Amino acid sequence: MYQKLMTCLSSVKQKIDFKPEVALVLGSGLGDYADGIKVEDTMEYAEIDGFPVSTVKGHKGRFVFGYVGETPVVIMQGRVHYYEGYPMSDVVLPTRLMGLLGAKKLLLTNAAGGVNETFKPGDFMMITDHITIGVPSPLIGPNIEELGTRFPDMSEVYSNRLQGVVRECAADCGIDLKEGVYVQFTGPSYETPAEIRLARSWGADAVGMSTACEAMAARHMGLEVCGISCITNLAAGLSRQELNHKEVQETADRVAKSFKELVTKIVTNMA
Ligand code: HPA
Repeated sequence: MYQKLMTCLSSVKQKIDFKPEVALVLGSGLGDYADGIKVEDTMEYAEIDGFPVSTVKGHKGRFVFGYVGETPVVIMQGRVHYYEGYPMSDVVLPTRLMGLLGAKKLLLTNAAGGVNETFKPGDFMMITDHITIGVPSPLIGPNIEELGTRFPDMSEVYSNRLQGVVRECAADCGIDLKEGVYVQFTGPSYETPAEIRLARSWGADAVGMSTACEAMAARHMGLEVCGISCITNLAAGLSRQELNHKEVQETADRVAKSFKELVTKIVTNMA
């Protein structure tokens, strides 16, 4: 895996000469965020030797390098999901690569179902912690000593400092920010109502199919992490409506403008 990472790294470095400070992963609804920043360079995932390429329709796959305000960023426009069939070590490879390119901080975003009964579609939830019982750890396998220790601490995956920054930025944007625990399941099916009741009894507030594995890999290599979920729908069993990707996409698109404002504010205040 380390060899594969090094191959990807040299493939990127051959084309791109840019040192990011912040890494950003864009979830549903934020796909075009990168089009609004000062772009310096881009690299399609398909151009990178050995890189896992996403198969989901509508998910673009490329790194965008540029500036949000004064902050040099690398943006993952489109992520790799476990449900596409990649091993977890490939799912987190892009995250690790952004760390190896020099990013010290990571902002993760996603679309998620609301498990907490007080959440409404369109709310934003700052991730305060996560549960990954439902998915294999990306750290399983020989430990990559060059990245981090065999048994990394996960008692503060989402940095308390950055949580403070996110709270302030949301207040500045006039956003009524929710906070809570994100649980990652494999997907690709949405959950059953029984699974959502289980997740709630575990202490989860939102559910999705990404993010926690990336946060874990990033913490393993010492990045400072924060995350925000856009609550696009009530989780299974909480409404009479059937869940579908269209509803998720529509809610994400509806609140995309304020999500982008929030992300910009956070990135410019993260340093
Ligand atoms: N479940 C899992 N993933 C999701 C959901 C959901 O309800 N909404 C958006 N992503």
